[in-house]
Amino acid sequence: MTIQEQTILITGGGGWLGGLLPARIVQREPQTSFSFILADIVEPKSTKGLAAKVICKKADLSDPASLDALFETEFGKPDVIYSMHGIMSLGSEENWDLGMKVNIDSTRALLEKARHSRNSQGEPIKFVFTSSVATYGGPLPHVVLPSTACQPEGAYGMAKLMGEYLVTEYTRKGFVDGLSVKLPTIVPRPGVPSRATSAFVSGIVREPLNGVEAICPVGSSVEDPVLKNVEVWVAKPSTTLENLARAKNVIDSSSDKITRWSRSVQLPGFTVSIHEIIEALRKVRGDDAVSLIKFEHDDTCQRIVSSWPREFDNSYALGLGFTVDQDGFTGAIKEYMDNHC
Ligand SMILES: NC(=O)c1ccc[n+]([C@@H]2O[C@H](COP(=O)([O-])OP(=O)(O)OC[C@H]3O[C@@H](n4cnc5c(N)ncnc54)[C@H](O)[C@@H]3O)[C@@H](O)[C@H]2O)c1
Repeated sequence: MTIQEQTILITGGGGWLGGLLPARIVQREPQTSFSFILADIVEPKSTKGLAAKVICKKADLSDPASLDALFETEFGKPDVIYSMHGIMSLGSEENWDLGMKVNIDSTRALLEKARHSRNSQGEPIKFVFTSSVATYGGPLPHVVLPSTACQPEGAYGMAKLMGEYLVTEYTRKGFVDGLSVKLPTIVPRPGVPSRATSAFVSGIVREPLNGVEAICPVGSSVEDPVLKNVEVWVAKPSTTLENLARAKNVIDSSSDKITRWSRSVQLPGFTVSIHEIIEALRKVRGDDAVSLIKFEHDDTCQRIVSSWPREFDNSYALGLGFTVDQDGFTGAIKEYMDNHC
């Protein structure tokens, strides 16, 4: 068996998904010898026992010298870049300038670095950019299609859309071989709440599972009919990590199926209302867990979440080789309990 080698740079490698991704990539491609460069403004940590070489770099991606250093490690130039660093939605609203600097300027700077490098075969670097459903807004059809216009309603979604345009343009020019993957909201997220508007979707499950009170900023009580109207597009962490790991290979295996005019794909997910989330929690953990959810209505949060699309047509993503959850929100709760409770 020939052992292949691949060097992967993950920016945001100290974050939640970026930190978990190497293990998933190694697990699904045991025939490849991987070297990972994990970069983040907070010191990234390597997964214990990972069967791969890892360099952890504390780096501010908006600082040109830090960026240069990522392409000058002992591992050489990356074959693949996962661009996953960023300032999340609430953070981008609260500090608009920082959001612009990190989410747009440093993405362009990273693409420029990639443009002037080549992989070990002398080919354009594969560039996977993590985008979001927050790129959508305004009036939307009931089911969003790949052809539906993106009209973001916030700084985060706007910056992600700019990143997607850059990835398409840099690919058109042959500077990189890119794909933007729009992630659903990934739930439940472990640990402390993120600076994302959607953070409460995880919180109202995670906190009660840990015996702690959670705040739901949508609705006034568990009976409020608005809970049935606010729906989010979600996926389990394990399914999303699998899709992220596949993304770099989809660029090759499905190159003839990815459209020329947009190198963006909405990763598969499923629709769930806040009401259904609460009822799934009740089914798995009972009334006591649900009673830990307290309601503090927040207009801004509800406006932003309600502006996001509720349902996508998964067929394009599935046709490219991505996968979708089969066990609904109870499956997501059970996965969290297996891994964190
Ligand atoms: N988790 C989700 O539900 C979700 C949904 C849609 C899109 N995404 C996107 O997926 C990616 C990963 O998401 P996550 O949940 O792991 O996010 P995360 O917040 O856990 O990780 C992002 C990382 O970026 C780092 N970062 C911020 N500014 C930086 C800078 N200047 N230089 C270097 N690093 C910097 C942060 O320190 C953080 O560790 C992000 O791009 C996010 O926008 C996530």
